[in-house]
Amino acid sequence: MLLKPNEVQKVANMFMNAAHEDEIELVNKLYEALKGGNKEEADRLMDEFIQDIEEHFSLEEEMMREAEFFAYPMHKAEHDNMRKEVAKVYEEWKKSKDASYVIKFLEEVFAPWIKLHVATMDSVTAIHIGD
Ligand SMILES: [Fe+2]
Ligand SMILES: [Fe+2]
Repeated sequence: MLLKPNEVQKVANMFMNAAHEDEIELVNKLYEALKGGNKEEADRLMDEFIQDIEEHFSLEEEMMREAEFFAYPMHKAEHDNMRKEVAKVYEEWKKSKDASYVIKFLEEVFAPWIKLHVATMDSVTAIHIGD
């Protein structure tokens, strides 16, 4: 398992929590498929992953714009950096089908990032937006 559900903090908005729970579940499935050498399943889950990231980030950005949240540009900048990283890893996977490259990204970049991002940006944003 890459991320245990309790490793990602709950925030004060249920839509954000639901998006995070779905993403953790998906990322764990992707991680298991990569670790287990199941390339077909991993390929399908990579497509889902890139789509899920976009839905998760867009949901938060839309809520922030509606609430006229002051730190929108900062929060969106963090999303945009991760969008770029994920797009790069996705392209690399499509070219090489190198599972170890994606595993390394998930372990060393994505997992620590999501924990920190949710505990900081998302949790402050959720307090401002409310439920
Ligand atoms: Fe989030
Ligand atoms: Fe966020």
